[in-house]
Amino acid sequence: MKSLVVFYSRSGTTRKVGQAIADTLKCDVEEIIDTANRRGLFGWMRSGRDAMRKRLTVIQPTKLNPTDYDVVIIGTPNWGNIFTPAIRTYITQNRTKIKNIAFFTTCGGSAFGKIFNELQKFCGKQPITTLGLTQKEVKQDQFINKVRSFASKIK
Ligand SMILES: Cc1cc2nc3c(=O)[nH]c(=O)nc-3n(C[C@H](O)[C@H](O)[C@H](O)COP(=O)(O)O)c2cc1C
Repeated sequence: MKSLVVFYSRSGTTRKVGQAIADTLKCDVEEIIDTANRRGLFGWMRSGRDAMRKRLTVIQPTKLNPTDYDVVIIGTPNWGNIFTPAIRTYITQNRTKIKNIAFFTTCGGSAFGKIFNELQKFCGKQPITTLGLTQKEVKQDQFINKVRSFASKIK
């Protein structure tokens, strides 16, 4: 299947996983850039508040068209068990253009279930598969086998 990896990352963890998935599947990748300032303590607090309130944000224009792909693999950090405003905005803009979907998330703890349920409801589509990783696993490069197993379900 022709796949596209789409992710948002505030501090690099989800980017590392998105890139590893794209390398494994040898597919295109699009990073979503949030124009809101989310740096530092105030950025962190603003991010948590925006996620909790399920706010949209302004993202930079994207380059790749989801209609050109059989599956769009969406990645987001977990912000209070909710997906990020940047990914909420991307899905809002592209929902009708996505044929099949898969999700991945990274988080400080290990509670992935709720975020996948929220994503599924918001997209209106059941994912082919999901992958949840902790920041620790990603930092210590202990995630490549999980990425391979995830990718094998999409190929
Ligand atoms: C605003 C905010 C809220 C977060 N809330 C949670 C949370 O509820 N549970 C959790 O396990 N991690 C939480 N985290 C940690 C991130 O999910 C984790 O560090 C993630 O891997 C960061 O991904 P990134 O480097 O791609 O931005 C939160 C981080 C931020 C910035």
